[in-house]
Amino acid sequence: MSRRRPIVAIDGPAGAGKTSVARALAERLGWLRLDTGALYRAVALAARERGVDWNDGPALGRMVSGLDLEVEAAPGGRSRVRIDGRDRSDELRLPQIARGASDVSRHPEVRAALLDVQRRVGREGALVCEGRDIGTVVFPDAELKVFLTASPEERVRRRIAELRAMGVQVDESAMASEIAARDAQDSTRALAPLRPAPDAVVLDTTDMPLERVVELIAAHVARLSGGVAGTGTGPDAG
Ligand code: DC
Repeated sequence: MSRRRPIVAIDGPAGAGKTSVARALAERLGWLRLDTGALYRAVALAARERGVDWNDGPALGRMVSGLDLEVEAAPGGRSRVRIDGRDRSDELRLPQIARGASDVSRHPEVRAALLDVQRRVGREGALVCEGRDIGTVVFPDAELKVFLTASPEERVRRRIAELRAMGVQVDESAMASEIAARDAQDSTRALAPLRPAPDAVVLDTTDMPLERVVELIAAHVARLSGGVAGTGTGPDAG
């Protein structure tokens, strides 16, 4: 892969703060941001509506190759995702879809189809990309890799706050078991399991305010060769 501008890969478990951090960092740098979890969530939602089983890899693979899936990689706001031209971004956040996303993400057919989509967005660099396997599989040559963690209690608290802000009420113990189940499935699957790349900067964000996390990562970006921080996204920038 040859690109002129860098990629920052941010991986970590559910509720570790990836989305908030990626959004703030991308806004600060004026770079694109890609939430890859939204792609897996979109596959789960589309499958449910088309009656495709979340456990049927080959059928999911066929469905994804015919799916009209568009994802916006704008720096700020929520990543907008359109399926068949309709904006489904809000529905993708629901806990039942999160579980489906974890289920469909185990299948090689689904991962292979989404790999191309993700790499296309990263072609030019100047991208903050978040997920589970960005530093290990999608962009193993990312100039900076970050692995965010936080205690399970804190991650549950953040997810509940996120859903409440959207007007969705969730039970705390149900959310705790949902996140624990998803963590276990995402980190033990055979293909592209959740784990830090050997060269990732690991940050425990349990007691860290968002601004501090962004500050720390931005300092790493500024140290990348060529001093690329804040150079904008124009074709001649950087
Ligand atoms: O980040 P998220 O909670 O939106 O991700 C939903 C699920 O999608 C997650 O439990 C596992 C899967 N996923 C993945 O396998 N690889 C990624 N790069 C991103 C998400």
